[in-house]
Amino acid sequence: MEDLLKVHNLKVNYPIKESFINLMKGKNNKYVHAVNDISFNIKKGEILSMVGESGSGKTTAGKAVLRLIEKNMIQGEILFNDRNILKANKDEIREYRRKAQMIFQDSYQSLNPKNTVYDIVAEPLKVNSMIKESTELNERVKAALVQSGLPATNYFLNRYPHELSGGQRQRVAIAGTIILEPDFIIADEPVSMLDVSIRADILRLMIEQRDKYNVSYIFITHDLSLAWVLSDRIAIMYLGKILEIGSGDEIIKNPCNPYSKALIDIMPKMGIKKKGKKLLIEGEIPSPIDLPKGCVFHMRCPYAKDICREEEPTLQEISPEHFAACHIL
Ligand SMILES: Nc1ncnc2c1ncn2[C@@H]1O[C@H](COP(=O)(O)OP(=O)(O)O)[C@@H](O)[C@H]1O
Ligand SMILES: [Mg+2]
Repeated sequence: MEDLLKVHNLKVNYPIKESFINLMKGKNNKYVHAVNDISFNIKKGEILSMVGESGSGKTTAGKAVLRLIEKNMIQGEILFNDRNILKANKDEIREYRRKAQMIFQDSYQSLNPKNTVYDIVAEPLKVNSMIKESTELNERVKAALVQSGLPATNYFLNRYPHELSGGQRQRVAIAGTIILEPDFIIADEPVSMLDVSIRADILRLMIEQRDKYNVSYIFITHDLSLAWVLSDRIAIMYLGKILEIGSGDEIIKNPCNPYSKALIDIMPKMGIKKKGKKLLIEGEIPSPIDLPKGCVFHMRCPYAKDICREEEPTLQEISPEHFAACHIL
């Protein structure tokens, strides 16, 4: 399968605004190192999950890939169909935004409360001035709603976001995305605010898009079991790094990095047979302002040795397409 997206050495550093006093003392140039040199690729029609606890840089990585973060904070190379998005001009970015879309966790915030369902779903097509005829626009809006499992009635088209349930709002957000017939969608925790009963429907909808239209996905989640069910490959992220990446089965059944192992140990069992003691990780993810020397995970790793505190491990191939970064492999 062909690669749709190739990301090389992506870094995102958010500058921190320093107080006047600190600036006078010469204490400037501090950054949040939110994404810290990650590389990965996504094939056409593939679903890659990014998994990691809060603060590991998942959302930032997704936003950077879609160029929703200012260019001067991003380093590296983002190739979409072999064209470098970080070197794209305004027209090329507009074209890219049509093909690459993002769905956010909180549809209540991402949908304009003053717009009706019709306006919300029609807007992307209007902004991209892809449709001139209003009858065609109406048809496209209705088709997108139906595809997203929503009624295409006039009553529903005239509802406002606050009149909808959480599941309906997320479906409206999805309709506003798929109306542009994208090749690539980044779904950032798309079901974590929804009731369990509707999560499966929304996920099924995403898989349907992939199966029918060969859409590629980055699925961002802190829920490893969900990633396993849904995706082809999983990337385990920690403090802006990918610590392990491979097929869902490889990551779950043959994890190599202790952080991946710990995430698996807190997963619901789902029929996985586990040998030995559970690996429990305590404490919190350290600050991404002053990154630790050596392995980013060494401060919480029960197996950390001297080398882990000194040298950063690089991703090593464990088996075909399965890579892990760890000195104790
Ligand atoms: N706009 C921002 N400015 C400064 N720091 C940010 C900004 N957005 C996120 N961060 C920081 O970057 C790190 C990664 O955040 P994020 O990408 O949201 O992680 P995740 O989605 O995995 O929870 C966190 O430490 C977060 O506080
Ligand atoms: Mg996030």
